[in-house]
Amino acid sequence: MPQNEIRDKLIKYGQEHVLKFYGELDEGKKEMLDEQLENIDLDLLGRLFASIGSGHADGCTDKIEPMPCAVKEKFSAERRNTYYGIGMDVMRRGAYAAVTMAGGQGTRLGHTGPKGTFYVDVPEHMSLFEIQCKRLISRSRECCRYIPWYIMTSEENDADTRRFFGENGYFGYPPDHIIFFRQLMMPMLDEKGKLIMEDRHKIKTGADGHGGIFRAMYKSGIIDDMHRRGIEWIFVGGIDNILVRLADPVLTGYLASEGYLLGGKSIIKRDAHEKAGVFCMKNGRPSVIEYTEISEELAGLRDGNGDFVYGDAHILCNMFNIKVLEKMRGAGLPYHTAHKRSDYLDENGCRMTPDAPNAYKFESFIFDAFSYCDKMGVLRVKREEEFAPIKNKTGEDSPETAVSLYMKGACVCE
Ligand code: UTP
Repeated sequence: MPQNEIRDKLIKYGQEHVLKFYGELDEGKKEMLDEQLENIDLDLLGRLFASIGSGHADGCTDKIEPMPCAVKEKFSAERRNTYYGIGMDVMRRGAYAAVTMAGGQGTRLGHTGPKGTFYVDVPEHMSLFEIQCKRLISRSRECCRYIPWYIMTSEENDADTRRFFGENGYFGYPPDHIIFFRQLMMPMLDEKGKLIMEDRHKIKTGADGHGGIFRAMYKSGIIDDMHRRGIEWIFVGGIDNILVRLADPVLTGYLASEGYLLGGKSIIKRDAHEKAGVFCMKNGRPSVIEYTEISEELAGLRDGNGDFVYGDAHILCNMFNIKVLEKMRGAGLPYHTAHKRSDYLDENGCRMTPDAPNAYKFESFIFDAFSYCDKMGVLRVKREEEFAPIKNKTGEDSPETAVSLYMKGACVCE
């Protein structure tokens, strides 16, 4: 796009401040900025900014109902063994893959570098990547073949992640069974809706949320790669749950034999205000309401037994049949807004580090993809066995709480 068209586009949307340092840039940097600006959808950003603060997801326009979940603990030993056997068959014939989403910024934890490079003592001194790898190695041994492991990174942490794996000998996993792919980025806006400068030639962007996984898998040819390998079932989880079961035969067998193409795991939420989304049916289709978007009334609603009606928390452990990923090819999901702290270059070209949130980040959420299916098999599991997230530096969901849960739960690994 010629420079004058880029300038006109910026003026139209009140974003021409990003050209303030343009005259000082060398040709290479000018090209970099031009290329970035050509690809930014200012119309979309304008709409996203205008919609900030526009209400709860469970407002009067959506019909929200509870989603039934299967309770793993209530399965008879026979039923559980049957699912286990079916799940192991899927893995043995090479029809299973695990995806770890490791593109997040980990702002709350405040660790420099990719979150997967964070170390905990469980009691061995291990990085979060190594913990997941060890679990896959042990399942791979059981099914006598390596399970392909896809790792989603972001523009920000891709090089560091690959380097970390290289330096650590891929933790003993064959490198051709580890496939990295990058998620896409979204520009960030300041509190007045203006694009933020990261550098004189660069607009500040952030990873587009874990829901960006579908676009990223499609664009980087991952779905085709899965087809080539004969994969049918794909587990998708986060990097920061140190009890995550990346290859759970019971969940796999449950979904495969009960006719689901989409599944997930839940735990009962700790209290009405736990910071976790909860499963529900929205307008007749599977969904999750985020804790930031649920009303007080629904969050605290209890049934006749005193149990939460919306009590099954989503723990970012999901499974997709490849048919669902195909159906979604390239589809974008809606964006949600996060108010975050972000470094920026001010109008004088000075780098600023704010100590309070100053920027809006737009992220799509993986669970918005659930509505592509009309039903979903959710397995309720025990928190102490499968959910020990590391989100914050201290307090709730911190390395300390996660390690303590790990030490109790690790022995129950199935
Ligand atoms: P969170 O939503 O907890 O975000 O991610 P985060 O980036 O780790 O931490 P904060 O919010 O900045 O403190 C849950 C999982 O989803 C992945 C993360 O890497 C983590 O495994 N994720 C999140 C991505 O892969 N990409 C994203 O854009 C966002």
